[in-house]
Amino acid sequence: MSLLEIRDLKAGYGALPVLGGISIDIEEGETAVLLGLNGAGKTTMVLTLAGLLKPSGGTITLGGEQIAGPDAKGKMRAKDPRDLVAKGVVLVPEGRRVFPQLTVAQNLRLGAWSYKKDRKGTRQVVEQAVEYFPRLRERWTQLAGTLSGGEQQMLAIARGMMARPKLLLIDEASLGLSPKLTLTVFEVAKRINQDGTTVFLVEQNAGVLDIADRVFVMEKGTIIYTKSRSEGAFDVGEVSEAYLGEAEKV
Ligand SMILES: Nc1ncnc2c1ncn2[C@@H]1O[C@H](COP(=O)(O)OP(=O)(O)OP(=O)(O)O)[C@@H](O)[C@H]1O
Ligand SMILES: [Mg+2]
Repeated sequence: MSLLEIRDLKAGYGALPVLGGISIDIEEGETAVLLGLNGAGKTTMVLTLAGLLKPSGGTITLGGEQIAGPDAKGKMRAKDPRDLVAKGVVLVPEGRRVFPQLTVAQNLRLGAWSYKKDRKGTRQVVEQAVEYFPRLRERWTQLAGTLSGGEQQMLAIARGMMARPKLLLIDEASLGLSPKLTLTVFEVAKRINQDGTTVFLVEQNAGVLDIADRVFVMEKGTIIYTKSRSEGAFDVGEVSEAYLGEAEKV
């Protein structure tokens, strides 16, 4: 059984359909990557997985439990984001969202709110996060709004870690980062994965293939390419062609 089983998933905004029937699996313990151009529907996908957007059709199953899908009467039901966070599905959203008027430490503490009674556990997760991103320790009492863009992204990921995810969804963490910082973020994503969390990265940067166990390419709300590392090493040229092919034709 896969950790996440997505079948014929459809979602959109009002009358605008975006996801046109997605069927993919993500295995427990892997790093899965979703590549696609602007507007492909990547954010729509992770918003739906995190319970922030209700699907209009299909099913999502997490560890064997249906978390979105039709009820007995055929009406679509989906668990809300709080339920999903409690089940271990945590989204680091696009755009490095942090609380600008709060310090680094306060942002992290807020990320751990659901575990606030477990002080020892929270301390351990904080320690781990600052070990991943030592810069955050240096900026501990700085207001998050005054951090650099890259530091804000580190904080956003670290805050996601505070909720102790089973499945961590990260939406375009590399956007606007230097090549060096992008590499750091990908390396940390891999370490988070190796330390026991299933990771699903949405990206436009094909460099992420270095840390991927499975890759999906999305175009106009459908999956047009999928490959697992177990089928052999990724061919960056082949993946890039799948993902840039349409754009190159323009
Ligand atoms: N709140 C919204 N209301 C209406 N349409 C939306 C909304 N959010 C996204 N869309 C539309 O849905 C489509 C998919 O958008 P989405 O944000 O999922 O793409 P994306 O692959 O994440 O792109 P990017 O790489 O630019 O972040 C786009 O055509 C977009 O204009
Ligand atoms: Mg997006």
